[in-house]
Amino acid sequence: MTDDSTTSSSTPVQEAWSDQQGVARATAAFVAAFGEQPDGVWAAPGRVNLIGEHTDYNGGLALPIALPHRTFAAVRRRGDRRVRLISGRESIPWEGSLDDVGPGTVQGWASYVAGVAWALGEHGQPVTGFDAAIESCVPYGSGLSSSAALEGSVAVALAELADHWHGPAADTDEGRAAIAEACVRAENEIAGASTGGMDQAASLRARAGHALLLDCRDGAVEHEPFDLAAAGLELLVVDTRAPHALVDGQYAQRRATCEAAAARLGVATLREIEPERLDAALADLDDDVSRARVRHVVTEIARVRAFVALLRDGRVSDVGPVMDASHTSLRDDYEVSCTELDVAVAAARDAGALGARMTGGGFGGSAIALVPAGSAPQVIDAVERAFADAGLGAPAFLVATAADRAGRVA
Ligand code: GLA
Repeated sequence: MTDDSTTSSSTPVQEAWSDQQGVARATAAFVAAFGEQPDGVWAAPGRVNLIGEHTDYNGGLALPIALPHRTFAAVRRRGDRRVRLISGRESIPWEGSLDDVGPGTVQGWASYVAGVAWALGEHGQPVTGFDAAIESCVPYGSGLSSSAALEGSVAVALAELADHWHGPAADTDEGRAAIAEACVRAENEIAGASTGGMDQAASLRARAGHALLLDCRDGAVEHEPFDLAAAGLELLVVDTRAPHALVDGQYAQRRATCEAAAARLGVATLREIEPERLDAALADLDDDVSRARVRHVVTEIARVRAFVALLRDGRVSDVGPVMDASHTSLRDDYEVSCTELDVAVAAARDAGALGARMTGGGFGGSAIALVPAGSAPQVIDAVERAFADAGLGAPAFLVATAADRAGRVA
């Protein structure tokens, strides 16, 4: 399926590294940088969200799967409070003391890693200093949660290396929920991105062969069997490679608009607005922008329910229209799509996709297309042609299967 040889397109899909490949790379980088063997290697996946976009910070539902593409962290515990970090993707290493990490103190990629150690410490966990070498095959800046994969790989390492871990064991789902919360704090408070938590939940709590039905009101999860191959389907990810220049400000703005609308409507989060009450809620809002944002959130949560109902009915091949409606809502009401995403979605549908939508935060990043098994090469060709015709830069592709959560690999 992800094998090049079955592809007529000249563009190969981006393969995930095996455990062995990731361990070899991360270990070699660790030894080269620090002159010792690591205590172990831990890996955490990126994710694609099947449906339920911009619902997490509204207390809503989302349905991500973990990708086979993972970030590998080779880690060695230190006896002091120092942290030394290197990454195969970054030319500049980072070194500092855990005592100096706090909001506003660390910039760039290291803020995700140092931030995780800081947040675990804030949660009362006995975190020590450490050395880490990071290697990853999660496409970077593609809306596939390379940052959650980075946070997750280091978080599970630190949890396992800590003496006297408090609370539920780090490998139980309860323990993972707490670790995911710490990763969200790292991202919100140290890296400065006001993201909602779906990505970390997917990376730390998903199960192979299942989609993760995440209820962001209370963090509860259900594992929904998700076997596309059995239904003669596959999920193609189109990484548009579009630069998302405005993403941070726009994301925070969407979130602020939703929070203000919820306050105006007298509810804790927009999750509390049932679809039957949507029209009445919209009538209580003063401006068209807030109305459109609220309409997206409420209808998107309903679409998650519809998608899951179809899965539970054994009708995965019928989810296409639900995906399409999600894209329309994200494009028109939430206004987070862009030309590249719209071109990818339209071309995939024209080439036979059953449904297609942008996935993740938007403004660039990736789209997903549900396609008949074996048809990915034609869809890839069609999307490439559409990008070229529209004068857009070349996209990249991968095939998503529902992979397992983060864990130790060596
Ligand atoms: C980004 C954020 C998530 C979520 C999605 C949109 O991926 O990190 O928390 O809000 O956007 O669904």
